[in-house]
Amino acid sequence: MIVVTGATGNVGRPLTRALAERGQQVTAVSRHAAVVPEGVRHVVADLAEPAGLESALAGAKALFLLLSGDLHAAGASPADVIGQAAAAGVRRIVLLSSLGVATRPFGTTRIALRALEDVLRESGVDWVVLRPGGFASNALWWAESVRSQRIVAAPFGDTGVPIIDPADIAEVAAACLLDDQHTGGVYELTGPAVITPREQAEAISVALGSPVRFHELTREEAKAGMIQRMPAELADDTLDILSSPSPAELRVSPDVQRVLGRAPRPFAEWATRNVAAFR
Ligand SMILES: NC(=O)c1ccc[n+]([C@@H]2O[C@H](COP(=O)([O-])OP(=O)(O)OC[C@H]3O[C@@H](n4cnc5c(N)ncnc54)[C@H](OP(=O)(O)O)[C@@H]3O)[C@@H](O)[C@H]2O)c1
Repeated sequence: MIVVTGATGNVGRPLTRALAERGQQVTAVSRHAAVVPEGVRHVVADLAEPAGLESALAGAKALFLLLSGDLHAAGASPADVIGQAAAAGVRRIVLLSSLGVATRPFGTTRIALRALEDVLRESGVDWVVLRPGGFASNALWWAESVRSQRIVAAPFGDTGVPIIDPADIAEVAAACLLDDQHTGGVYELTGPAVITPREQAEAISVALGSPVRFHELTREEAKAGMIQRMPAELADDTLDILSSPSPAELRVSPDVQRVLGRAPRPFAEWATRNVAAFR
């Protein structure tokens, strides 16, 4: 049995589906009740209180571990989840980390994520670390304004990074959970090309079949919106990346191709699949 945390999110939902479709027994974990694919068991638990994971982990052989940013910032002790999983007999853990751990190894969240990677390496279980860059699904932040006004409002409209489709992260995670050839792998996951916010707006427009205007926000305006969704320090770190990505953040990684044997999906494909959110 494989336990998937973050099971109702951008990565966890397609991962749960992919594992179930491959005939795996899956336990999906999140804090709220959720509809999951047929045959999948859902357990309500909060990773901030690892004791509540006991029933989810019973009998598990592998764990996909995804921790939301606020868990690090809140000073919770997510490393306990790794110890608890190992004690419960889990033999393989795939951790969703972040490219920022390598490219900007400072700031509360990234220091905490790096520490978590280190705990995992020392845990005695087989491990894989996934370090994705920015997600295509961050474009959902624009969904409301596209629906109501056909506007994408974002900062740094002509500066891009190679954002990744979370469905590709999910497929890489599934491969790493099922195939021990990936043990000890640290995979940097990006999309196939650098794409700017203005180009993303254009791709959403094409998917909708209707014009979408791009409106450039100042850094301050963008931050005011972001701190509704994430800690202020993480918002600043993210804005630093979006305004002036380093060469390592601009690099298109070969790791999706290496693991899946195919190129990562372009943003346009994500936009087409998720067009209903923008209608
Ligand atoms: N967005 C980016 O650009 C980016 C880049 C690099 C790395 N990352 C990493 O990607 C992760 C986010 O992935 P995502 O977009 O798939 O997430 P998401 O769509 O925001 O979904 C989060 C999932 O985790 C569950 N969850 C949240 N807090 C929880 C808690 N305390 N206990 C148990 N379950 C909890 C949520 O369900 P409930 O709310 O029902 O609990 C949901 O299933 C974060 O770890 C982030 O650091 C993101």
